[in-house]
Amino acid sequence: MKICMVGAGYVGLVSGACFADFGHDVVCVDADPSKIERLHAGVMPIYEPGLEDLVRRNVAAGRLTFTTSLAEGVAGAGAVFIGVGTPSRRGDGHADLSYVYAAARDIAANLTGDAVVVTKSTVPVGTGDEVERIIREAGCPHRVSVVSNPEFLREGAAIGDFKRPDRIVIGAEDEYGRETMREVYRPLFLNQAPILFTGRRTSELIKYAANAFLATKITFINEIADLCEAVGADVQDVSRGIGLDNRIGPKFLHAGPGYGGSCFPKDTLALLKTAQDYDTHVRIVEAVVAVNDNRKRAMGRKVIAAMASCGGGEVRGKTVALLGLTFKPNTDDMRDAPSLAIAQALMDAGASVVAYDPEGMELAAPMLPGVTMAANAYAAIENADAVVLVTEWDAFRALDLKRIAREAATPLLVDLRNVYNPAEARAAGLTYVSVGRD
Ligand code: UDX
Repeated sequence: MKICMVGAGYVGLVSGACFADFGHDVVCVDADPSKIERLHAGVMPIYEPGLEDLVRRNVAAGRLTFTTSLAEGVAGAGAVFIGVGTPSRRGDGHADLSYVYAAARDIAANLTGDAVVVTKSTVPVGTGDEVERIIREAGCPHRVSVVSNPEFLREGAAIGDFKRPDRIVIGAEDEYGRETMREVYRPLFLNQAPILFTGRRTSELIKYAANAFLATKITFINEIADLCEAVGADVQDVSRGIGLDNRIGPKFLHAGPGYGGSCFPKDTLALLKTAQDYDTHVRIVEAVVAVNDNRKRAMGRKVIAAMASCGGGEVRGKTVALLGLTFKPNTDDMRDAPSLAIAQALMDAGASVVAYDPEGMELAAPMLPGVTMAANAYAAIENADAVVLVTEWDAFRALDLKRIAREAATPLLVDLRNVYNPAEARAAGLTYVSVGRD
C-alpha cells in the first residue's frame, strides 16, 4: 500500500521509515524544504539511534521518498498519516492544533482516491471529529475514513518501540477504516503485537491517559524519594520492593530530577485542559504537574544546599559543572529538560555553570545563554565546586570518580540519577549526594 506521512518530524520520520521497512511504499511530506533537502542527502533532522541506517536502507530499496509537495505525497495513497507537531499553545496549555487542521485541509484538497486519514500526532479528544468535518466541508469527492492511531514511541528507543510495540491502538468508526489499518499493520500482527480496536475518541484519550499515568508513576516515586531522605530510607530499595509486585511493575520508578521531554509535560497539561473543558477534574494529574514543575528548580536548591554543607558556604562566585543537559539519554532533545531549570536556579544564586552533554549542546546552547559548554566531561569538572550528574548518559556511568575527586576544586558529586554506588563514590574521595538515599 502507498502510505503518505505528513510531517517528517520525530513521529512522522520514525513511523514512515518503519512502515517502509515493513515493505510499504512510503512518501514523507514536510513543508520545510531544508529538512527535505537534508533528508535527500541522508542527513537526519533529529538524533535517534538506528534511524539514519533505517532511512538509508529503505531509500536505497526505493520504498521511502521525501518531498515538500503534499499533492505528490497524497496522490494514490491508501492511508495518509498526520504526524505534524501539536505544541502547547502559548498562554493556555491547550494543544495547538493549527498544523493538524491545516494538514487535514491540504489532504482533502489533494486526495486522488479513497483513503484513510490517520491522526498519529497526539491530539485532544474530539480532534478526529474536527478533522472529519474539515475534510467533509472541503467537498472531497472520495470515501474518507478518519482514524486515530496514537504513537507510544520513546525517544532514543523509538525504532524498537515501533517494531515491537506493547500494543497498537486504533480508533476507527467504520469497517473501511479498521480494514485499512489492519493492512497497514499486518506485518506487526504477524509478530502478534496486541491490537486494540476502539472508538476514535477513546483512542485519543488512551494516549493522554497512558502518558499521564507514567508521569504520575515517576512523580510518585520522586515524592517518595523526598520522604526517604527525610526518614533515612533508600528509594531504590523502595522501588524494588514495590515494583516486584506485578500489579505495580518495576518500570518508571526511577527517582530523579523530574520528568521532561516533548510528551509528558505537554500531554499532562493538555489532559487537564480537556478535563476543564468538560467540567471534570483529574486532580491527581493536577498535583503531578505542580509537583514536577516545582521539582526541577528544587534540584537547583538541592545542589546549593549540598555545596553549603560541603563547607562551601555561599554559592555566589562558585562554579558548578552539569553533566548531561538533554531530558534523558540518547536524544538531543532539550524540551522541558530539568537541566534548564537547574542551571537557571544555580545562576540566579550567583554560580557560574559549565556543562557537557554528548549530543545536546548544540540545541542547549541558545536555551542556556549564560552557561559555558565544555569539550568533554573532564574539561567540565576541572575546577568545579560541585559536579552534578543531570542526565544518565552511558558515558557518565563509568566516570573515573577518583579523577573527579582530584581535579574538581571541591570533591562534591550530586548524582540526580542515582547512577553511582554511594559507598564507592565516597571511597573515591567524593562527598556524594544522590536522590532519596544516604
Ligand atoms: C514518553 C513515553 O514513554 C512514550 O510512550 C510517549 O509516546 C512519549 O513520551 P519520552 O518522552 O521519549 O517518551 O521519554 P521517557 O523515556 O518516557 O522519559 C520521559 C521522562 O521521564 C524523562 O525526563 C525521564 O528522565 C523521566 N523518567 C522516566 C524518570 O524520571 N524516571 C523514570 O523511571 C522514567
